[in-house]
Amino acid sequence: MLKKTLISIFVSFLFAVQTGEEKGLKTEFADSFLVGTAVNLNQVNGRESGADSLMNLHFSSITAENGLKWALVHPKEHEFDFAFGDAFVAWGEKHHAYRVGHTLVWHQQTPKWVFQNEQGEPLDSASLANRMLHHIETVMGRYAGRIQAWDVVNEAFEDDGRWRKSPWFTILGEGFIEMAFRKAAQMDPKAVLIYNDYNVWKPEKRAAILEMAKSLRAKGVKIDAIGMQAHYRLDFPSLAQIEKAITDIHEAGFEVHVTELDVDVLPRPSDSDGADLNINFAASPKWNPYVEGLPQDIEEKLVKRYADLMKLFQRHKEKVKRVTFWGMHDGRSWLNNWPVRGRTNYALLFDRNKSLKPGFWTEMGRD
Ligand code: XIL
Repeated sequence: MLKKTLISIFVSFLFAVQTGEEKGLKTEFADSFLVGTAVNLNQVNGRESGADSLMNLHFSSITAENGLKWALVHPKEHEFDFAFGDAFVAWGEKHHAYRVGHTLVWHQQTPKWVFQNEQGEPLDSASLANRMLHHIETVMGRYAGRIQAWDVVNEAFEDDGRWRKSPWFTILGEGFIEMAFRKAAQMDPKAVLIYNDYNVWKPEKRAAILEMAKSLRAKGVKIDAIGMQAHYRLDFPSLAQIEKAITDIHEAGFEVHVTELDVDVLPRPSDSDGADLNINFAASPKWNPYVEGLPQDIEEKLVKRYADLMKLFQRHKEKVKRVTFWGMHDGRSWLNNWPVRGRTNYALLFDRNKSLKPGFWTEMGRD
């Protein structure tokens, strides 16, 4: 696998040198970390034109943006739908990409039935535990050896470091995390097991996450990495705050995966700074100022922000294993619809024509 990846990176490098073609992210950062992108069905089944060539040139890893979430892969108690997962794995194999499963245990995009009995009352803890274990067994088991890393648990903490009062926590208590990681390690002992969350740059939240991860490890539970979602803004959080998160995670003994990088350039109707899907505001032109295009000065700020982030991650390349963008290009970013629906956002490094935003390599000092 590694040999194949290296050969394909080398071949694209030779090709680029020969033709004087565009530089590829995955080649330029190959000695630092994997460069990934979130993908959906249209990309992995070849229906989105240009997705294959963008993938080929720029990305060495893929994450399932939605298709492996509980609601999609396991919509009813006795019904699994692996159409996306199978296509995702096959497409990733074709591109020799490191494949990331997202996500096994989360409170969002999980159907209500999961937490209820036949009478619609809250499920008892033994039955919920069985449901969770069966889910992990079936989904991870199907792709054992073919998906290299999993976001096993997503977003179990509040920003202040308290446990999120999700149905998982309310019914099972904090032991649900241990249960999930133990089962995941059993299903694929070689897979990289990740705890993933947003706002990991916040000290209280990070402390709670690292305490949980260290205590699992002390009990002999396999947990390899902390995923920092990295849904950032143009000037927030600061590079110093992000750097502190990277070094703290590393010192605690875990790999850093930057799992969902994007940079929101639009105004926020409130000072919400995370990625909580429950937050939603009414659409209004006031919150959608760049429908006709992003002003040049803001695009320059965005490109500089990305270059600063990538340089920071490079300085910590022995700690950061992967940097994944949350979508291939602006047209596919979830930030067009969150926290306000139907906006025109410019949150990624590739524009709606799938072109790299101008000035990035210059900002990186690699022109
Ligand atoms: C988002 C997807 O990008 C959207 O398409 C979907 O409608 C909602 O979820 N944190 C996560 C991701 O872990 O799974 C979320 O993805 C974004 C926030």
